Amino acid sequence: MKVDGKAYRTIWLNPDGWSVEIIDQTKFPYAFETATLRTLEDAAHAIRVMQVRGAPLIGATAAYGLCLALREDASDQRLAEAYEVLHATRPTAINLRWALERMRKLLLPLPEADRLSVAYREAAAICEEDVEINRSIGAHGLTLIEKIAATKKPGEPVNVLTHCNAGWLATVDWGTATAPVYTAHDRGIDVHVWVDETRPRNQGGFLTAWELFHHGVPHTVIVDNAGGHLMQRGQVDLVITGTDRTTLRGDVCNKIGTYLKALSAKDNSVPFYVALPSPTIDFSIEDGIREIPIEERSNREVTHITGRGEDGEIRTIEVVSSGSGAANPAFDVTPARLVSGLITERGVLEASREAILSAFPERMSPA
Ligand code: MRU
Repeated sequence: MKVDGKAYRTIWLNPDGWSVEIIDQTKFPYAFETATLRTLEDAAHAIRVMQVRGAPLIGATAAYGLCLALREDASDQRLAEAYEVLHATRPTAINLRWALERMRKLLLPLPEADRLSVAYREAAAICEEDVEINRSIGAHGLTLIEKIAATKKPGEPVNVLTHCNAGWLATVDWGTATAPVYTAHDRGIDVHVWVDETRPRNQGGFLTAWELFHHGVPHTVIVDNAGGHLMQRGQVDLVITGTDRTTLRGDVCNKIGTYLKALSAKDNSVPFYVALPSPTIDFSIEDGIREIPIEERSNREVTHITGRGEDGEIRTIEVVSSGSGAANPAFDVTPARLVSGLITERGVLEASREAILSAFPERMSPA
């Protein structure tokens, strides 16, 4: 995507051929800065503190993290250690494990001397594939937006509601939930996005709004509790969110609050779609509520908020009565029965075991 006329991805290899550059998402929306990853620990830290975040980008960063580890030592032991360090960074997004397993499976049988160059090639392939997958998600999701656009009067936009940031900042490029929006907008379809603020970390207000603004997509930021009200008033045509892990039967785990959007959507007959690349499907589990580990983040994200004061200074302030307890589960699970469909690189699927297996049969058969 372009920022001030310059094309960017969220992660890339520097001209030195080994260090990795990322857009530092902890600086948004007040600054656009990049950071250089030179070691395994740099990569693990970037995922842990959310300089990079979003399921596909976490996976891509982990793949490069393994490369950085192997530069120092390409032994089996180092590979295993690096896998564990990266795997422990965040628990919910399955793309992390998917990318690490893909790398390990490829690298382990190789002689140590060959591992580093193959690792870099594979990490780059993971990034390229992510871009192509998301482009495809955009094309498939476009058909949903086109159908709604055909029912609108001239000058009436298609209103899409999204939660958190499943935009290009959450992937290598394009985004998942935003890919259909960008594709529709670029084709001249009048599309407007309701952006859930997404407390406590404000990925909607800080990241999605920033992205949409820079792409020229009309959008409005709303507080997290406004979506149901807008749906009751007929002001939402379609919900599209991303996901951090989708089970084989189509349960969807995404940023906390997604489930409530799905319930409101069901109650108001608003279609609720989830956009996802196939690496976000966890083929080993069925029941998302019982089987997906939900990240518990620091309570300080609830009790405090960081923003820019009117004097231009960035500061953190307390927004909860001092002394009160707080809890901060970062994700929730939306059962498949509330999901109208899954927008994947192979088409829009029913959120069911049968549909997922028939679209991705190779993921169930032993390689
Ligand atoms: O905690 P985050 O910011 O990593 O959470 C991100 C999300 O919940 C996204 O919706 C999800 O990873 C899909 S990204 C295409």
